[in-house]
Parts: sequence; structure tokens; C-alpha cells
Amino acid sequence: MADCVVLASGSGSNFEAIATRLTSSTHRLLALICDRQGAAVLERAARLGVPARLVDYSLGRRKAEEQLAQLLVSLDPDLIVLAGFMRILPGTIVDAFPERIINIHPALLPAYPGMHAIERSWADQASMGVTVHLVDRGVDTGPVLARWEADRSGNPSLEEMEARIHKLEHLHYPLIVERQLNAINREGTRKR
Ligand code: GRF
Repeated sequence: MADCVVLASGSGSNFEAIATRLTSSTHRLLALICDRQGAAVLERAARLGVPARLVDYSLGRRKAEEQLAQLLVSLDPDLIVLAGFMRILPGTIVDAFPERIINIHPALLPAYPGMHAIERSWADQASMGVTVHLVDRGVDTGPVLARWEADRSGNPSLEEMEARIHKLEHLHYPLIVERQLNAINREGTRKR
């Protein structure tokens, strides 16, 4: 058994896929951490019975980051899962959880890091897909754990490609989260 938290800012479809998957595992999802009051992910957490904690960035970034750091220390997760969390984690938090923070990005990294990755790769007619990677101090630069290319056949619209990318995310990200938690459990390097 190992513990994780999910950080999300928006719709939370990946959060829901992960939370659902973990209910049939030995692992615990300790909390959803969200930076946006009124985000749809908060409704999902309430419906799924996952405790939600808000980090208040209206206090200013430094205060919010302190709040986030304290929250993480008190929750003491084995794994931090970023799922559409629209903030850059401060280096102090990244350093406090080496190889224990993962992120999902809707492009085939190292191509198209940062914002609007789907739209930019679409506009370039580039290969499109999803990457899960370890988080380092950069933006979408950490070591890649896995990538999946989305099918571009059939002359799909941008909306159709978005749907295909999200389908890949929901299929694979929960499995990667579970795999990472299994590995932590097996290694026995953490609190249990
Ligand atoms: C996903 O496309 C993910 O790759 C990106 O943010 C989006 C989050 O979507 N980092 P959701 O909030 O999980 O629906």
C-alpha cells in the first residue's frame, strides 16, 4: 500500500479516472488539492468522496506555495500526481519529493511543452499524443515515463483529436499511477 495526492485545477477528468482506478487497488488517494475555487474537479471529488483541499493563490504566489508545501508535509504522500494543475511547483517542493512527482502532458514531449500543446501540435500537423513524466524544476522537462501517440487517421477535426488524446489519458494515466505506487510499495523505501 502507498499513498498519493492529486493536484488539479480544472475539469478533473483525469482525477476522476485515477480516483476510480485506485478504489480497486490497495493504495490510498489521500486528497485532491486544487488551486481554483469553483473548479469542476471539486464537484467530482465531493461525488467520489475524496477529501478536497484548496490552496489560495489570491493570497499571492509565495504564500500559496508555503500553504501548499505545508499541506504536502502534513499529508505526507508517497506520490504526488499532477493532473491538469496549472501552476508551476516551486523548486523547494520538487526537491522535497525526488522522483515522487508525476505529470501528464497532452503532447509527445519533448515536443510542445507548456501551454496549448494540443492546439500548437495540431496547427503544425505534427504527431500528437500524451506523455507522462517525472517532474523536475523545468516546465514539462522531466524524464519521460511513457508516451502514447494518438491516431490521426480519418482526417479528424481538432475537437476529435482532443477527444482521442483525453481518451488515451484516461486509459493510461491511472495505470501509470498505480504502477508507480506499486513500485514504491515493493521497494519499501518510504514510511510503511
Ligand atoms: C489534460 O489534457 C492534461 O494532459 C493536461 O491538462 C488536462 C487536464 O484535463 N495537463 P482534466 O482536468 O483532467 O480533465
